[in-house]
Amino acid sequence: MNNKELIYKAKKVRENAYAPYSNFLVGAALLTKAGEIYTGCNIENAAYSPCVCAERTAIFKAVSEQEKEFKAIAIVGGKEGADKTSFCPPCGVCRQVMREFCQDDFLIILEGEEGAIKEYTLKELLPESFKADYL
Ligand code: THU
Repeated sequence: MNNKELIYKAKKVRENAYAPYSNFLVGAALLTKAGEIYTGCNIENAAYSPCVCAERTAIFKAVSEQEKEFKAIAIVGGKEGADKTSFCPPCGVCRQVMREFCQDDFLIILEGEEGAIKEYTLKELLPESFKADYL
């Protein structure tokens, strides 16, 4: 599974996003260490606070299937109706959820408007993070 294939899966599941309030559609494809893929889209709610991001949908789907070993996630986002997706870094809540299940070298793969791919480790996007070791 290469980056392009993972991004393709994220784009595909983005089509299922339910975002009638922001009209910002996001898709994520999570790769496990065993090579399985769990996908997720954002799902919004009229009460706003129950909205969930694509990344957490994918991670929670995986964890609910007893999968907790993750290698990478691809994320794509963009306004509904726009012909291109744009660079969509994960929100702080999703970074903290990644911290719960993923190691420092977990890869976060993002695609910009012109198809340029950016790759970050979880440590880069969430340095000095709070985790179970502190409890
Ligand atoms: N969103 C995601 O799904 N993932 C991100 O990384 C950033 C934001 C969603 C949440 C909300 O439904 C919409 O995008 C606008 O913030």
